Amino acid sequence: MILVVDFGSQVAHLISRRINDFGAKTKIVFPEDVLMEIKKEKPQGIILSGGPDSVYAKNAPTINKKIFSSNIPILGICYGLQLTTHLMGGKVVSGKKEYGPARLTINNSKSKMVKDIQKESQVWVSHGDEVVKLAPGFAVIGSTKQVPVSFVENTTKKIYGVQFHPEVEHTEIGKQVLENFVSLCEVKKEKETINLNEIVSNIKNQVADDYVIGAVSGGVDSTVAAVLVAKAIGKQFIPLYVDNGLMRFDTNDHLAKIFEHTGINVQIINVQQETLKKLKGVTDPERKRKIIGKMYIDIFEKEMKMIIKSGRNVKFLMQGTIYSDVIESKGTKNAAKIKSHHNVGGLPENMKLQLIEPLRSFYKDQVREIGKRLKLPDVLIYKQPFPGPGYAVRIRGEVTKKRLEQEKRADKIVLEELGKPGYLKDIFQSFPVLTGARSTAVKGDGRNFGEVVALRIIESKDVMTCKWVELPYALLQTISSRIVNEVPDISRVVYDITTKPPATMEWE
Ligand code: XMP
Repeated sequence: MILVVDFGSQVAHLISRRINDFGAKTKIVFPEDVLMEIKKEKPQGIILSGGPDSVYAKNAPTINKKIFSSNIPILGICYGLQLTTHLMGGKVVSGKKEYGPARLTINNSKSKMVKDIQKESQVWVSHGDEVVKLAPGFAVIGSTKQVPVSFVENTTKKIYGVQFHPEVEHTEIGKQVLENFVSLCEVKKEKETINLNEIVSNIKNQVADDYVIGAVSGGVDSTVAAVLVAKAIGKQFIPLYVDNGLMRFDTNDHLAKIFEHTGINVQIINVQQETLKKLKGVTDPERKRKIIGKMYIDIFEKEMKMIIKSGRNVKFLMQGTIYSDVIESKGTKNAAKIKSHHNVGGLPENMKLQLIEPLRSFYKDQVREIGKRLKLPDVLIYKQPFPGPGYAVRIRGEVTKKRLEQEKRADKIVLEELGKPGYLKDIFQSFPVLTGARSTAVKGDGRNFGEVVALRIIESKDVMTCKWVELPYALLQTISSRIVNEVPDISRVVYDITTKPPATMEWE
């Protein structure tokens, strides 16, 4: 097996997942436990993840130097490379900060680490520090224009390092780099597949004779989670939909589709007015998330009490939380907090229901695979992810009834236009953002100082990185014209051409 040492990376789990895809087992461990884990697990390889710290930062996570003479192949990724260099006698400095795409050139094609890798390729980077002097015994095998020391090796000690991220899908050679490392480790390969029966029987055992309230939103994650729970416990499952008016306009239609063959009815609780009241005057994104999250849980607790009064013993709350939600809400000890996803970060500590989250350790593409195996229709499996706080985080500043209406109309236009020529299948998410900025337009003969809408149309597979989609200009033109013509008080449409990293997908 291969140990993945987590220095607080947003993607330690993704590294592990990629390695599993090659049929190798992994275990994610904390830096301070590595020597103990080496003794216990006898790994064939060690990967040192990236992390948000600088090696010189106070309390920056570190590792016992003994691992470098263990004769176990080691791959340091980003912070992992910097720490290796720092501990083994090289030099790391605060360099030119770099986020997003970069071109990597391989300058030693004989290395086993670059087997089947082209001379030039696109890699994804995200770092502030860089290695400027190699540790003794190391050689450079690849460079980018900004960072000469981008890919290194010490063949005697079998230690390798990359300044880019091989685990994210936008690094073209990423899979090959990891596969080459796995080959060097000589691990026994066993392909693991997701065991649906085990997931279903775990839910059955956990729930026994009690009842589960299911938080459904019509989105892929809660749909797949709900179908798994429904399969496990049938009518002991009570799906609820909190209609706070912030969800996508087509949600009610989709909810009807999910449960049409199960004999289970979704209870819809309309809190649209109350939600707008609670959000009145609120402009801070984190406060919006917390308010919406709290409201949501309060409503569930209230519903639970009513259901219990009716004689059913509700002990659990099902949520469609997936792994990227957990990670971005500070899922691991050393990771930096990016934002509170409302179904993770916003949960009050005294919540009286136990959680059932059958998809908590899966990525979106795995959730879709499970959905397919459950025979759910494509329209549900391939729909775009939609954030829990919904349109509220796509409206910069205060959410008012008018702005919510503008956002919904613009969203519908974008989806209709992207649907027509069949672009939607390659798009991970598409949405307008009400930016809060105003600009001048002349509509008819009058001046209109309306709001600027930004379009965010992106492709991604694992949520950790994204690229904006190169849509035909004519299509962008149609979307822009329709939004400024059909949505009242919108003066301008701009296209967001920022990658992730550095920019997150949502604006808030
Ligand atoms: P970011 O903006 O962090 O988004 O790059 C990554 C993915 O997560 C979704 N997202 C959210 N989902 N609550 C959610 O349930 C949230 O607060 C939230 N913020 C972002 C986003 O739509 C994208 O798919």
